[in-house]
Amino acid sequence: MCGIVGGIAERSITNILIEGLKRLEYRGYDSAGLALINAGQVLRERRVGKVINLAEAVETSHISGSLGIAHTRWATHGKPTEENAHPHISGNVAVVHNGIIENYQELKDDLEALGYVFTSQTDTEVVAHLVNDALKSTPSLLEAVRQVVPQLKGAYALGIVHTDHPNELITVREGSPLVIGVGIGENFISSDQLALLPITNRFMYLEEGDIARLTRTSIEVFANGNRVERPVKELDATVSNASKGEYKHYMLKEIYEQPEAIQQTISQALNGNALRPDFLKNAEVDFSKIQQIQIIACGTSYHAGMIAKYWFEQLIDLPCQVEIASEFRYRSPVIVGNTLYVCISQSGETADTLAALRDTQKRAVAKGLDVVTLTICNVATSSMVRETNYSLLTLAGPEIGVASTKAFTTQLAALMLLVLKIGQVKNSISTEQVEQITSELWHLPKVILNTLQHNDSILRLAELFTEKQHCLFLGRGTNFPIALEGALKLKEISYIHAEGYAAGELKHGPLALVDNEMPVVILAPQDDMLDKLKSNMEEVQARGGELFVFADVNSGIKGKDRQHVVHVPNVSAVLSPIVYSVPVQLLSYHVAVLRGTDVDQPRNLAKSVTVE
Ligand code: F6R
Repeated sequence: MCGIVGGIAERSITNILIEGLKRLEYRGYDSAGLALINAGQVLRERRVGKVINLAEAVETSHISGSLGIAHTRWATHGKPTEENAHPHISGNVAVVHNGIIENYQELKDDLEALGYVFTSQTDTEVVAHLVNDALKSTPSLLEAVRQVVPQLKGAYALGIVHTDHPNELITVREGSPLVIGVGIGENFISSDQLALLPITNRFMYLEEGDIARLTRTSIEVFANGNRVERPVKELDATVSNASKGEYKHYMLKEIYEQPEAIQQTISQALNGNALRPDFLKNAEVDFSKIQQIQIIACGTSYHAGMIAKYWFEQLIDLPCQVEIASEFRYRSPVIVGNTLYVCISQSGETADTLAALRDTQKRAVAKGLDVVTLTICNVATSSMVRETNYSLLTLAGPEIGVASTKAFTTQLAALMLLVLKIGQVKNSISTEQVEQITSELWHLPKVILNTLQHNDSILRLAELFTEKQHCLFLGRGTNFPIALEGALKLKEISYIHAEGYAAGELKHGPLALVDNEMPVVILAPQDDMLDKLKSNMEEVQARGGELFVFADVNSGIKGKDRQHVVHVPNVSAVLSPIVYSVPVQLLSYHVAVLRGTDVDQPRNLAKSVTVE
């Protein structure tokens, strides 16, 4: 999704902007551009395609400046062309924008009536013209932006510069993430702090509706017209943990980081085999009232929620519902008191999940209901973490590959910790059971490490997929969502059409698709459903389907003609979905590499989906 970087300094910031954009490439984009203010001029370059194309253009044109804004665009309004790439200019104003201006057409009609000529199909260009127009009635750039903001409907983050204001950069946050990187004698903005990590680890997080004016040495933030203070936080994230290291792709690195990421995530909550007393401190009173769970999430995070539903209901007898946020937010769901609303999100900024959360909170207040909210998230400073009562962090470190891997398995680990915590507070799980599961959680990194040893066998399976057009994934129980997740991974990075099904559904439709050409991936952990799953495998084989089975080493499932088996180390049934995520991730990864796709930045997708 779109990315913003901007800054004001003594030194030239051209390379800082380009490097910042490169660090945002993982978010997905289709064009890039920057504008620098230098000697009373706006110097702009924009290119379709990768940031490297922009970098080459900037090198050729030798433009530089110590005040500027830059952007990677993920097309929403208008095709990915140079004309539509940001920054957009009106007179002496240049603007970059993330998000969507919903009423842009109306504003555009008014501006055209005033004689403004549009050179792009974007919604963003209205902002440039509006600021330019507002400057007719005020000499202050900040004031002009303040006049424009109330006219804009939608979600947006903005960076704005002007040739006559070489000592200031104006930024706005309204529904789209924006962070200020605080330097010494220089200040920066970005939609993602990762872009600024090489230059600072001190960040100021704007609140929704904030407008800020940055100079080299000062940051003034305004909310509802009043000057406000926003704290500066120091991050311990380092530049190196966001680099590819020895791995060919971020995705592969992140798959291999899972043992450590899970270890980190559980360490924050466990003391030996007991839950730490300070884990989710002060939540006891709220959790004791909870009578049901409602999980809201999108994509891979939604799959994590589906698994948690099995856990909440089977382990602690607590009703749990899971829903895709883009549906939940628009169907006027009944908000019920004494419910724990759980948002699961790697980024904590996903537009639909955030909107569903805000809508729930608003409706609960309107009905006078007592609801509790909690976020499971990989970004401590995200909007969701800030806006929910409780948060449980997945300590996976930055995830750069668009296809979520370590964020997903750490979400599962965190969800299990939450299940145990609520179960303990509500006395619905025995101490022995908690100890049993926590000891299995501690063992999990080792089991995943052993599963990763099968990488070469999985690569050999992947070689059989390169010419395939379609694929089915089947699982039962908590591995049904892993079948969905496996299918999602395969389609998003290899572009092979894939579907996940609960294996019991096979004969209710999808079996019609099975023939010699249809690969069927099976998830076969050692659980109560294993015999039933074996029958489903027979059904596929009887129709000529080719089976690719990830099976427990003790399952008794062996390789044979048109049945390829990779044996997964034995793991308890309850934690098996965490382990079985790994082979499906590796399979998708290798198929994608063999098919030559852009594994870390698959076409049309974005890492952080901050527009709906
Ligand atoms: C797929 C993937 C997406 C995200 C979804 C929600 O690999 O990563 O499906 O899970 O866009 O994103 P978050 O978790 O940031 O809310």
